[in-house]
Amino acid sequence: MTPTTFPVLLQSYLLALLVVCALVVVCQSMSTPKVLIYTAAAEYVHDSTPTAVSSLTSRGPRIGVEFSHTEDKNAFTDDNLSQFDAVMFMHNTGEVLDDNGKAALQRYFNKGGNFIGVHSAADCLRTTEFFNKQLGAHFDYHPELQNATVSIVDNTHPSTSFLPSQWNVRDEMYNFKSDPRAVGAKVILVANEASYVDDGERKYDHGSPHPLAWYQNQGAGVQSGGVAGRSFYTSLGHMSEAWQDDAFMTHVLEGVQWALASNTTRAFNETGQVGNPSTSTTSKGSGSATNSAGTPA
Ligand SMILES: *[C@@H]1O[C@H](CO)[C@@H](O)[C@H](O)[C@H]1NC(C)=O
Ligand SMILES: *[C@@H]1O[C@H](CO)[C@@H](O)[C@H](O)[C@H]1NC(C)=O
Ligand SMILES: *[C@@H]1O[C@H](CO)[C@@H](O)[C@H](O)[C@H]1NC(C)=O
Repeated sequence: MTPTTFPVLLQSYLLALLVVCALVVVCQSMSTPKVLIYTAAAEYVHDSTPTAVSSLTSRGPRIGVEFSHTEDKNAFTDDNLSQFDAVMFMHNTGEVLDDNGKAALQRYFNKGGNFIGVHSAADCLRTTEFFNKQLGAHFDYHPELQNATVSIVDNTHPSTSFLPSQWNVRDEMYNFKSDPRAVGAKVILVANEASYVDDGERKYDHGSPHPLAWYQNQGAGVQSGGVAGRSFYTSLGHMSEAWQDDAFMTHVLEGVQWALASNTTRAFNETGQVGNPSTSTTSKGSGSATNSAGTPA
């Protein structure tokens, strides 16, 4: 090796090192976000649950999200929840967690864990205050399933920006026990009450216009001293048909991606306290609490 070639070799060596370092940094900040779908139902069980789960999980790779599904309340431990960037409650009813599971979920929210609620997620854990706040409001009742028009009141959110201002759906138009705006939620989708029949007796004030979907930049279920992640909720999705409808699927999946884009979990912040650690490290206890998609209730 002559004195003149040495610096050239060193230069290319350093350049290669730089490229490798850059790749490592990029790979670490681009770990695939993981979402746990929880569909346990202690009371009414939705026929559409298996369709909903498979519709979500099959679209995961396309949007770069890894979905896991469980109906096992024992999946709610600190260790298991810590690998997820978001927890999604879907089609739940009644008391679907025990005290240990609820405490683990509260700690997950305190660590910046993100939340997504779908349809009757608003009808579970009815006396659990932090869950009520993290979702935004509890379900009260719904009129019969029928066709209805829903209105987009905020098209700046990715879950509604592509929808027509009046969207025709066939779904259950939920009434709630409180106004999600009271905990700071931003309502994006509302019911056009003139477009359907509701013979029920409204005992609670859920605010006006009639809320159906909303988001929270900082979930209100976090305890003081905690780091609040994002929360997204949509009351739609009762029918299997909805989970085969492109507009509805885009609505839900954009909501999921928006929740994951929070700066509190590892999906977009490697110093987050929860979330998929990284694609480059070995995953711990992978899938021990996860069963296959479409498990019957
Ligand atoms: C309800 O809407 C669907 C399309 O979503 C349509 O096929 C059906 O005819 C409508 N039913 C009624 C009773 O208007
Ligand atoms: C993280 O997101 C929250 C909520 O959107 C925001 O208030 C905060 O400023 C963000 N923090 C940083 C460091 O970007
Ligand atoms: C990442 O999360 C940490 C807390 O875990 C926070 O201090 C920091 O501001 C976040 N970074 C960004 C870019 O949001």
